[in-house]
Amino acid sequence: MTENILVAVAWPYASADIHVGNVTGSYLPADIYARFHRLAGNRVLMVSGSDSHGTPITVRADEEGKAPEEVYKEYHEKFLDLFQQLGLSYDLFTSTHTENHFQVAQTMFTALRENGHLYRETQEQWYSPEQDRFLPDRYVEGTCYICGYENARGDQCDECGNLLEANGLIDPRSKMDGSTPVLRETEHFYLDLGGLQSEIVDFLKEREDYWRPNVVRQSLGQILTEGLHGRPITRDLKWGIPVPVDGWEDKRLYVWFEAVIGYLSASIEWAKLYGGDPDAWHDWWYAEDSRTYYFIGKDNIPFHAVIWPAELAGAGESFGELFDGTKGQTLTLPYDVPANEFLNMEGKKISGSRGWVIDTLDFLSRYDPDPLRYYLTAIMPETRDSDWNWHEFIARNNNELVATWGNLVNRVLSFAQKYWEGAVPEPGELRPADQEILEKIKKGFDDVGQAYDQVKLRSALNTAMSLAADVNKYLDDQAPWFEIKEDKIEAGTTIYTALQAIDSVKILLAPVLPFSSEKLHRMLGYENPLFGGQEVEKISDELSEHKVLRYLAENGSGTWEPSQLPAGRNIQSPGPLFEKLDDSLAEEELKRLSSS
Ligand code: MF3
Ligand code: ZN
Repeated sequence: MTENILVAVAWPYASADIHVGNVTGSYLPADIYARFHRLAGNRVLMVSGSDSHGTPITVRADEEGKAPEEVYKEYHEKFLDLFQQLGLSYDLFTSTHTENHFQVAQTMFTALRENGHLYRETQEQWYSPEQDRFLPDRYVEGTCYICGYENARGDQCDECGNLLEANGLIDPRSKMDGSTPVLRETEHFYLDLGGLQSEIVDFLKEREDYWRPNVVRQSLGQILTEGLHGRPITRDLKWGIPVPVDGWEDKRLYVWFEAVIGYLSASIEWAKLYGGDPDAWHDWWYAEDSRTYYFIGKDNIPFHAVIWPAELAGAGESFGELFDGTKGQTLTLPYDVPANEFLNMEGKKISGSRGWVIDTLDFLSRYDPDPLRYYLTAIMPETRDSDWNWHEFIARNNNELVATWGNLVNRVLSFAQKYWEGAVPEPGELRPADQEILEKIKKGFDDVGQAYDQVKLRSALNTAMSLAADVNKYLDDQAPWFEIKEDKIEAGTTIYTALQAIDSVKILLAPVLPFSSEKLHRMLGYENPLFGGQEVEKISDELSEHKVLRYLAENGSGTWEPSQLPAGRNIQSPGPLFEKLDDSLAEEELKRLSSS
């Protein structure tokens, strides 16, 4: 049965470069998941975009003396470049700064309001008389009321690490011009999470058996101990999405409230642009049996496991009624939120500001994408924090990709070239050893497939690689280089079997290693590619002109099933799939890391 799978991927703030920790945290697992399900014949919709609003963008714009729009576009373009180089196959990677997203986000707000899930409340906030504006928490610095540190930020103290209530800062000053702000009253809309608590608890309880324990702890666990409380969802800002209420022209929707709506709006945008039917998004969002997965880092758990489900549940049938007149349909709640833990760098926490980080575009200017995807999957922080280690990266590249997998391919394809003029040999009757290895690999499709499907990507990769090692062992045991001297049919049976085995392992590894698998696929004489390619397109609407990245699903032809490579098929002479890296590179890279 064909399933509809939504692969929802965290939206990167368009104000900072993407490092390898971000990649292994959410973007790469999402891509692996999407590629697996496409091979498995399911209908995948993988969406995300640039998170273009909020103070992260305005702070950077202020620092650089640019307009927020300029800042977001600059980073957005870099993301598009990176995602193509890394092969992240978004069906649509767009932005929150589009007319479509504004409209969907405002409709969501109105649906929640109509259903009584929003209320207004007045609070005090720092206001700058000099600049005649309210200051977001991050724009105010002062003395920490907990530890006395003099340069605490309004939202958090970097000395004692506590989250702060900005109103409590002692001796506050504006980060913009050093002037002294005053407290002034301001009114905001709040999402009434308390009123939605029982629905959210039910939703979480239905899922706690299969969600990752850390995600359950940070959602259901916290609610049961602390309860849910209303949260303000508007801000005194100019950059962002206007609040669709008369008299609220000076305020904007809070960036977290609207960014999560991006999963829905991007699906709608995809349907309009590429879905062949503007209602195509219904198959994921109004369908009871679709499965929706949210790939995020652990710092985003509350927003995806609690607040977004609350928005969806609270909007209820009103969203469809307001948006396009659809009646009686509720929006699909998250099926799973497989959040990852953090990646450390050489034993220390990653820090963008201190340069203790590997920028992914920079990495790809020196190395190929598949070794990075491979290593980041092998160490993916699925259940606990993990560590990037340059020596290990090089060792795994050389011992696993080059020696185990690449060499196997090379040995078998070269042998076929040499003795069968580059054709798949006609086998004799299969012997027990041949049947055994093919059986083992056939079973691998179930085991590895199940691991991918359950988002146990490390385990999927491990099992696939151990099958590659099994094929190596099979080849060494059969020793076709001796068989060929005695009986060419026997040797041909071995090479036929080994080629089928390799062709199958290629599929098992393809979600993690799309580039080298595609290369091998061509070497094995297939005409159509395993996966569709990617394309960047310029889109314009009333609000802005933006570029999107999209996956060309219709061009992919790979399927999740054991090889049926026929005897007689012409195959190419093998080229190297991976490059051996000298261990001295690790020292070079470690120097680069500590000098930046
Ligand atoms: N921009 C946020 C971050 O980088 C993630 C937003 S995910 C979203 O942490 F769904 F809310 F957009
Ligand atoms: Zn402090």
